[in-house]
Amino acid sequence: MSIPTTPFGAALDIASGLVSPEGPLQERRLSDLRGLYADEAAFEAAVADGDPLVYTVSAAPVPEEAGEVPFSITTIEPGDVAGELFMTKGHWHTAHEGEIYEGKAGRGGLLLFDGARTRWIDLSDGAVGYIPPGWAHRTVNTGDQPFRFLAVYPGAAGHDYERVLERGMGARVVRTQDGFELQEVAS
Ligand SMILES: [Fe+2]
Repeated sequence: MSIPTTPFGAALDIASGLVSPEGPLQERRLSDLRGLYADEAAFEAAVADGDPLVYTVSAAPVPEEAGEVPFSITTIEPGDVAGELFMTKGHWHTAHEGEIYEGKAGRGGLLLFDGARTRWIDLSDGAVGYIPPGWAHRTVNTGDQPFRFLAVYPGAAGHDYERVLERGMGARVVRTQDGFELQEVAS
């Protein structure tokens, strides 16, 4: 699909979490995150009990190709599986490429993992998170409202979800009485 892109302005509808003009829209239900939550019994019970929507990605019509700069808004619903908060699957880029996230609504953050070290960047209140090349990244809704953020990334970045499924992210983000905490796990 090498249709030349032309300049365009886009509207980010913060109330709905949709980009206009719209490109691909992706929905991930809980069952799409199988293998990522610690409590497998609670996970399967929640999947059987309605398989809730966990996150939606509304992308602008920009191809994922070298030279292009795709962007999207992700909405993570509030919720948890036995205390472990709703989150994206998380991925490494297959190419040596970074990415920028900007918080847009709700409360949440960015969990980063380079295979040894874990980092957390809060994206609440419009904060910007920088993801360097070589760091896996996952976002987490730490609040009780939908958490939305803008992502902007190189078109040739590529997505490796399998490596996160195999190795984890070095930590889990878990609800506490006061909010949330990171619980380190062996990778
Ligand atoms: Fe990414």
